[in-house]
Amino acid sequence: MAQALPWKTAWVTGASTGIGRDIVLQLAAAGVKVAASARSPEKLAALGPGIVTIPLDVTDASACLAVADRVESELGAIDLVVFGAGTYAPVTIDSIDPKLFAHTMNTNYMGVVNCLAAVAPRMMARGSGHISWIASVAGFMGLPKAAAYGPTKAALINLAECLEPEMRLKGVRISVINPGFVATPLTAQNDFEMPFLMQPDEAARRSIAGLAAGRFEIAYPWRFVAILRALRALPYPLFFRLITRFVLKAT
Ligand SMILES: NC(=O)c1ccc[n+]([C@@H]2O[C@H](COP(=O)([O-])OP(=O)(O)OC[C@H]3O[C@@H](n4cnc5c(N)ncnc54)[C@H](OP(=O)(O)O)[C@@H]3O)[C@@H](O)[C@H]2O)c1
Repeated sequence: MAQALPWKTAWVTGASTGIGRDIVLQLAAAGVKVAASARSPEKLAALGPGIVTIPLDVTDASACLAVADRVESELGAIDLVVFGAGTYAPVTIDSIDPKLFAHTMNTNYMGVVNCLAAVAPRMMARGSGHISWIASVAGFMGLPKAAAYGPTKAALINLAECLEPEMRLKGVRISVINPGFVATPLTAQNDFEMPFLMQPDEAARRSIAGLAAGRFEIAYPWRFVAILRALRALPYPLFFRLITRFVLKAT
């Protein structure tokens, strides 16, 4: 990455594979000191030298706090976090399993809240820092098969909007990253053609560029984002007709 980045120390969750992994590698290549967390120590070890790897299950709030403490004691004050830990499983109307819904909400939403609680007080006390998390374009609207996943991502977008004004006044920046389809282990299970599919290194590049530019929302690829936003603005009868015709029958 040619551009000099505005952070010295970063902590990334969901860092063992996919988008989070590439964000870690690109930040480290640009000279940022990076701590990387996910549950699997083996996958984290594959990130290679120069990256501090700290296994973590983000559903454990006290473990999130302990990891944030450890990152600061080993690398210094954290000035960027990217919370990317996430899970996805498709849902059909024949298999509404409350345990899956709770697991998805606990990982995707409460996982971010747990990590947020671990870093926000120290950043506000310092009057600086940048907190971001990965939501999704799936949070823009309800989509077939996303009944467990979509609400967690809508909640993450809403959470970012709730916090931005107050956090900004305390000197802390909030950003939400909304990717479209990215080719990672998470989407490998999809048995339909994913429009505008992007590679994870490109998703990471766009995420970091948006963060460095200080954008509140970083959404890509822009063509897919524009289509989804236009769809969302339609009256519900037309919205559901188009979803049924172009999405339900394709998934
Ligand atoms: N791929 C897409 O098309 C897409 C689109 C929009 C948004 N997103 C979001 O982007 C983020 C990254 O997804 P990805 O596509 O890169 O998927 P991925 O390759 O499956 O990465 C998910 C990461 O989260 C970690 N993780 C899962 N549960 C965890 C837990 N309880 N505690 C800590 N870490 C946990 C996984 O590592 P361990 O299993 O080792 O814990 C892994 O590092 C997710 O939030 C996802 O929802 C993805």
